Amino acid sequence: MFHDLNALHAGLGGRRIVDLFAGDPDRAAGFSVRAGEMLLDYSKTQVDAEVRTALVALCDRAGLAARRDAMFSGAPINETEGRAVLHTALRNLDGGPVRVDGADVMPEVRATLDRMREFAGAVRSGRIAGAGGGFTDVVNIGIGGSDLGPAMAVLALAPYHDGPRCHFVSNVDGAHVADTLRGLDPARTLVIVASKTFTTIETMTNARTARDWMVAGGGDPARQFAAVSTAEDRTAEFGIPSGHVFGFADWVGGRYSMWGPIGLSLMLAVGPEDFDAFLRGGQEMDLHFKTAPWAQNMPVMLALVGIWHHQVCGYPSRAVLPYDQRLARLPAYFQQLEMESNGKSVAMDGTLLAQAAGPIVWGEPGTNGQHAFYQLIHQGKQVVPCEFMLAARGHEPELAHHHRLLVANCLAQSEALMRGRPLEAARRIVSDKGFEGAELERQARHRVFEGNRPSTTLVYPKLTPGVLGAIIALYEHRVFVEGVIMGINSFDQWGVELGKELATSLGPIVDGSEGAEGKDGSTAALVDFVHRNAGG
Ligand code: F6P
Repeated sequence: MFHDLNALHAGLGGRRIVDLFAGDPDRAAGFSVRAGEMLLDYSKTQVDAEVRTALVALCDRAGLAARRDAMFSGAPINETEGRAVLHTALRNLDGGPVRVDGADVMPEVRATLDRMREFAGAVRSGRIAGAGGGFTDVVNIGIGGSDLGPAMAVLALAPYHDGPRCHFVSNVDGAHVADTLRGLDPARTLVIVASKTFTTIETMTNARTARDWMVAGGGDPARQFAAVSTAEDRTAEFGIPSGHVFGFADWVGGRYSMWGPIGLSLMLAVGPEDFDAFLRGGQEMDLHFKTAPWAQNMPVMLALVGIWHHQVCGYPSRAVLPYDQRLARLPAYFQQLEMESNGKSVAMDGTLLAQAAGPIVWGEPGTNGQHAFYQLIHQGKQVVPCEFMLAARGHEPELAHHHRLLVANCLAQSEALMRGRPLEAARRIVSDKGFEGAELERQARHRVFEGNRPSTTLVYPKLTPGVLGAIIALYEHRVFVEGVIMGINSFDQWGVELGKELATSLGPIVDGSEGAEGKDGSTAALVDFVHRNAGG
């Protein structure tokens, strides 16, 4: 599939990215894409006009336009689960009907959004209150897609908070729920149980613990619990009144679900208007994705550069590096979005893939990462394509000098990765320090930066709700495009099942009601260690 691209890659030899700039004064403009308020610069990569043409050709070869239109129109493109993939309908604020099996889903989407607005307004104003008065705190209990999206976005949009404080509990480790609830008022805390299936063991265990805590502290779960789920029968069984239950359909994948009721905690924090602005940002990216020609299409070009680095150049991972502290949870969010979607070995038709479909995604905000793992990014043997993100301005005008430093650091990193420092320059540096002869040579080699390391930079004016929506939708569509080109189903996640099954079978062994016979020697020995050390 990547035959032409592999040939082009092989022909590059030691070509340096800096030389591409020397040969083309307009390279920065020619190798960047705009969408709404954002600019994606991919000029600091090895992609040239010929490579781009070959990459763009992949889209037509993979039937991307038809696949994209099938997704937006509600066709069951999640073929292994027989489901439509319609998270885009959740942000279809002023679009037309979207049909699943012939029925327009938009009236239901709009009705649920209106109920969320009504509920959020009532909680924020105190009209809906806990046993002890208006809600001061909201605890969202969920995991994976029912946690990472709202947790990431609540932090990202901190300057827009004017509602109750929001907290997130996900891990089944009792430390998480204990540390989160400590200090909260059980009679003035709203607990949202967010689970698409309402069966996830971590979420249900944490939800029961929170309910016990609330009852013990004088709170009233009948007033102070809400649920977000596709399984409304199970929410009723848990005792959550129907007026506090916000449903959604199975055509919303967990990791794509923050646009609907799973985003309730975000709406409570920032208010319905800012939540709408977030949806609108996503919707604008949808429109761009549907209409822009491939080479000017931001999600498509981000995907194609990703394919170039992962499938053609063979770089196994990519780093997401937001120079935006409030995007601290974005790398974790993208890990689920990208790795749960495209971490697959089998094509849609069941055949084994010849190569990995999706890369390992990791990262941390700058500038913190610079003082931790950038050493490897600059001088390690592995090449890690970096995806920088940067706002032109922050939310703290009085701290503009901080922001200028942030910008300078971000731009310095991509420049350093590209330029590097040749041996000659390193020799001059150590010679100025007084080194000579063999020691000069030895010292100089430690200060060489190979350079020629690729990066992209996404810049936006400011991290507003609309910009955040656009960034999330950009990456969703990027993952989709990569999946279509690789011929996989990006919308199932069978790989999480086996561990869940084994955890269930290990439960009785860990609690001692069954023996570990039949388990492998390592597992049995580890259980034995835990049993011997569990007391005290
Ligand atoms: O870990 C697998 C997974 O199914 C994710 O895809 C999902 O986001 C998460 O678990 C939580 O599932 P639920 O929302 O059903 O509790």
